Amino acid sequence: MDRETALALNRRLLNNLASDSTDTAAGEMRLSTETYCCPHRLAREREQLFARVPQPVAFSAEIAAPGSFLALDVLDTPVLLTRGSSGDLHAFINSCAHRGAALASGSGQRGRLVCPFHGWTYDLDGRLASRPGDAYFATPREECSLQPLPVSEKYGLVVIGTGAAVSAGQVDTALDEIGPELAGLALHTYRPIARRQLDVQANWKLVTDLSLESYHFRSLHRDSVARVLAPNAIVDTWSRHSRWAFPLTTIQRLGDLDESLWPDSIEGSCTYTLYPGVMVIVNALGAQMIRAEPADTPGHSRVVYAGVARGDCDFEEARQAYDFGGDVFAGEDLPVAEQCQRGLAASRRDLLLGRNEPLLQFWHALWRAAVE
Ligand code: FES
Ligand SMILES: [Fe+2]
Repeated sequence: MDRETALALNRRLLNNLASDSTDTAAGEMRLSTETYCCPHRLAREREQLFARVPQPVAFSAEIAAPGSFLALDVLDTPVLLTRGSSGDLHAFINSCAHRGAALASGSGQRGRLVCPFHGWTYDLDGRLASRPGDAYFATPREECSLQPLPVSEKYGLVVIGTGAAVSAGQVDTALDEIGPELAGLALHTYRPIARRQLDVQANWKLVTDLSLESYHFRSLHRDSVARVLAPNAIVDTWSRHSRWAFPLTTIQRLGDLDESLWPDSIEGSCTYTLYPGVMVIVNALGAQMIRAEPADTPGHSRVVYAGVARGDCDFEEARQAYDFGGDVFAGEDLPVAEQCQRGLAASRRDLLLGRNEPLLQFWHALWRAAVE
């Protein structure tokens, strides 16, 4: 983040903290419970917000070294990211040209990809290098490459397209609008920590909503997050992305300092939400990605929580921060999302988004526009 931006954001955070206020929307918004409970709405979302839209899926740092791979599930598509020996990034459908088995799972480093089923062997650029019993097959090896998916890598983030409707150009430009801001984070210099996968009995938007307001800090996170972070948020939006920041309680110290002595980064936590709703949470020690996607029913989602550590920070400290965030998310946030799903399905009563929940209003308006 450039210094001028950091100074301006810290000023706004200090102001909101001093007045115990937060950035607001113009009015209250109501949401129908169909938003979370309707199977037709879910089907439209799968098409209009996932199959037809570029998806930010990983940090570059998770697949930084030549020869590394990362297997992911993105909606119904098993995806394999590979980094070739010359540093070029590839994305494939993780499915062998012989009979469809997955070439790899999890992450790691390999010179070549060997299918565990019958041993067909692929180069990291997807070409079939060899197969046992080659003479038994009439189809030439050149026609048995892995199926590529459009992929782009910018600002330390990997974006792919899984549906046929997503072009390489769309994937390449998906983050351009917020590019200068993301570039300032230098995420490509971070180091990988881990990724967790969670199965959640709540709509993917209820999970995403958790990272779009700080109104819940003082109640739900009274004994965890709220001990170090204040809920006095600042909010900024691009046409399809957003930035949400809230301060560490220690930000008060800046009030006593001349601005020339202020830091070049936000004294707090900053969450970028990238269309169609992927969180990149940046703090002093590292960054986390939260990506929720719809599963088979409106009340079921799959969630990934991935973490990377800043290059200039103590790795162990960053790992502890990643674990702390993940434990709070899994132990405090997600159980409430599951409760909300059950409650909304039973009550069928409209939800209320207050003026103090402006980002929820922004994102629900975007999601609704996409499916209408
Ligand atoms: S399915 Fe991969 S070698 Fe047979
Ligand atoms: Fe939370």
